[in-house]
Amino acid sequence: MKELKSYWFQDEQDQKIIDSLSENTISNFVLPYSVAPNFIINGREYAVPMVIEESSVVAAASHAAKYWSQRGGIHTHVVSTIKEGSVYFFWDGDIELLMTGLPELDKLIREDCRELTAKMESRGGGIVDIGFADMGHEEAGYKKLNIRFETCDSMGANFINTILEEAAAVMKGWFEEKGFDSPDERRLEVIMSILSNYTPQCLVKASVECPIEDLTNIPNMTPQAFARRFYKAVRVATVDSSRAVTHNKGIFNGIDAVVLATGNDFRAVEACGHAFAARSGQYQSLSTCTINDGIFRFSLLIPLALGTVGGLTRLHPIARRSLELLGNPGAEELMQIVAATGLAQNFAAVRSLVTTGIQKGHMKMHLQNILWQIRATPQEQELLIEYFEDKVISYAAVRGQLEKIRSKL
Ligand code: MEV
Repeated sequence: MKELKSYWFQDEQDQKIIDSLSENTISNFVLPYSVAPNFIINGREYAVPMVIEESSVVAAASHAAKYWSQRGGIHTHVVSTIKEGSVYFFWDGDIELLMTGLPELDKLIREDCRELTAKMESRGGGIVDIGFADMGHEEAGYKKLNIRFETCDSMGANFINTILEEAAAVMKGWFEEKGFDSPDERRLEVIMSILSNYTPQCLVKASVECPIEDLTNIPNMTPQAFARRFYKAVRVATVDSSRAVTHNKGIFNGIDAVVLATGNDFRAVEACGHAFAARSGQYQSLSTCTINDGIFRFSLLIPLALGTVGGLTRLHPIARRSLELLGNPGAEELMQIVAATGLAQNFAAVRSLVTTGIQKGHMKMHLQNILWQIRATPQEQELLIEYFEDKVISYAAVRGQLEKIRSKL
């Protein structure tokens, strides 16, 4: 118990907040909280907070960010911010009947939800549009009432789900009133009402570019050779799903770390990102590389449903600090920062892969973990770091060398 308690917040109020986020909480689970400096995004400098347990990720992100800060920085823009949810129902009638009545139902839903949407509307958001979709080609009788939303600076999950449940009730009443819900085979059965975490219209793009000859400082490689190898590596991740998964995992190393640090829902972001990566029918790289007229361009297009108000974002004491560190961005700015971090992370990983290989840098960082695990003293750590400067690092090799050092003492 003493150990579990040692991870509690000293501030009782903060601990109560953390406890209340889940059930049966007995302690806090600690992960490293880092800051990746050097990000220039649309001309503005950021130090990006990252929560991640994997060594070398933060160093790689800030290294790549610095590289591009000397080549015009990272450019980002939000493509769109629309989210969607559905009332999923089964009904055997003619969809045309519903389509004809849609303007009336649309009005009824908006009127009924007026109180629920008022605050969001005052911020410039709310219900964007309402429509029916016939999914009968997938499953007999299956239909959807789709509602699209603008949720401004909030991720909006609770807002969307509340409206959807209300809309389902309104729709049921409307079916009854219209006589659509007759007791014969045309019975309406609402199955569920829920947002979709697939948000391909909540989309952001991040990119970097420079003339090929500016791709300098690449170990043992000319800018031209690097550009060509980098381009081919991204092509491989575009045409080969087995590589694309690892390639995208590298992108999410950066994305998830910032999403977590800012108290956002990384499961939603991951689920959506991977579905988006498979939107062509084949799972592909989320990033693209082109070389045209001597210009190297590398970009990332990714759906990111994020919030900077509501949910955990202001409640979690450290998520709040993360947002402060970023200058208290709105959701659109946060989308751009997160996408830029994913792009930088991806650039760093692919650069290592096509030049020195990933293990050199990775194992150098991992050496410190091994040194802790084998309980090397500070003096032994110094000797081992020096010894492994130019050698292949593995747990067995480091342990073996420690034994040699100890046997000599
Ligand atoms: C490791 O966490 C991520 C990488 O495998 C990504 C990649 O292969 O592109 C290095």
